[in-house]
Amino acid sequence: MMKQTQDIAENCDQPPERYIHKQDEEYGANNVGNAAHVITAAAIPVIDFSLLNSSPSELVKLKSAATTLGCFQAINHGIESSFLEEVREISKLFFKLPADEKKKCLKEENDVQGYGNETVFSDNQTLDWTDRLYLTVLPQHQRRLQFWPQNPTHFRKVLNEYSFKIESLNVVVLKALARSLNLEEDCFMNQYGKTSKINARFNYYPPCPLPEKVLGLKPHGDGSAITFLLQDKEVEGLQLLKDDEWVGVPVVSNALTINIGDQMEIMSNGIFKSPLHRVFVNSKNERMTLAMFCMPQTEKNIGPVDGLITDETPRLYKDITFTLDFMHKNYQQGRRAINACKI
Ligand code: OGA
Ligand code: NI
Repeated sequence: MMKQTQDIAENCDQPPERYIHKQDEEYGANNVGNAAHVITAAAIPVIDFSLLNSSPSELVKLKSAATTLGCFQAINHGIESSFLEEVREISKLFFKLPADEKKKCLKEENDVQGYGNETVFSDNQTLDWTDRLYLTVLPQHQRRLQFWPQNPTHFRKVLNEYSFKIESLNVVVLKALARSLNLEEDCFMNQYGKTSKINARFNYYPPCPLPEKVLGLKPHGDGSAITFLLQDKEVEGLQLLKDDEWVGVPVVSNALTINIGDQMEIMSNGIFKSPLHRVFVNSKNERMTLAMFCMPQTEKNIGPVDGLITDETPRLYKDITFTLDFMHKNYQQGRRAINACKI
């Protein structure tokens, strides 16, 4: 059985070979290190959600963020900062448990749900310097509670509550994005089907003795429609690609970092952009984040919404069902799932 990255990090002065990125990867760890290429300026727009219904200029700002970077920081989103603290706390308490206790939630080898490292598909796959706890949280009947920690004791209660808050916020985002394109406000939601699906991924990035040679997460686009990322309060690490430059995503207190996923790029016929992004780690500090991937219900066929297909803007994507399997196979092979959907 594979060792968790956290156990390796605690007992090594050099990351094992399997984690080291080789020179030749287009978007790998080596193609970057050039700090000059990393813009850490506050290039990520901050959107005030309390203004989305009343201020046309805020909606313009949202549209601009979604069509260029595919990412923005949401403030005044309605989730109390004290509650966000509770969410961070259950994550921290879980990852700080002794290895044996965490292993009660261990995923099975060919599964994604549960605690563990990334699924290994091939011998030459470079591993991510991270451990994660991956759980389907909605719809409720798809939960597999055997993987939900019972330690800390309030873990399930807090995650359950957070799931519903994110589900509501997702509706706010879908409606605002539709309105920003002068479309009927429910057009994206209608593609979700009766229930949306939300997968939660708690990411734990241990400190690494050789951070410039590894990545916390390889470059990828999210397979979701919308991703809500609760970042670590202090430690940065996320970067996204814009015009061939990596842009660092700063920590904004109490904000949720929201990005467009592949399924929204498809539903918007390419108007909204699902950004390629990756995660850096560092030698001193661990980092914990929680990504909530919101998307149409399982097995739901999606495609560009009618209002966006015109003579001038022909359909760019096929109708497709995004399965987890489809997303992960592409990820592990270093390919973008969305490219397989282009006409
Ligand atoms: C992800 C992701 C970013 C981060 O989980 O898909 O991109 O900073 N996470 O942890
Ligand atoms: Ni991601």
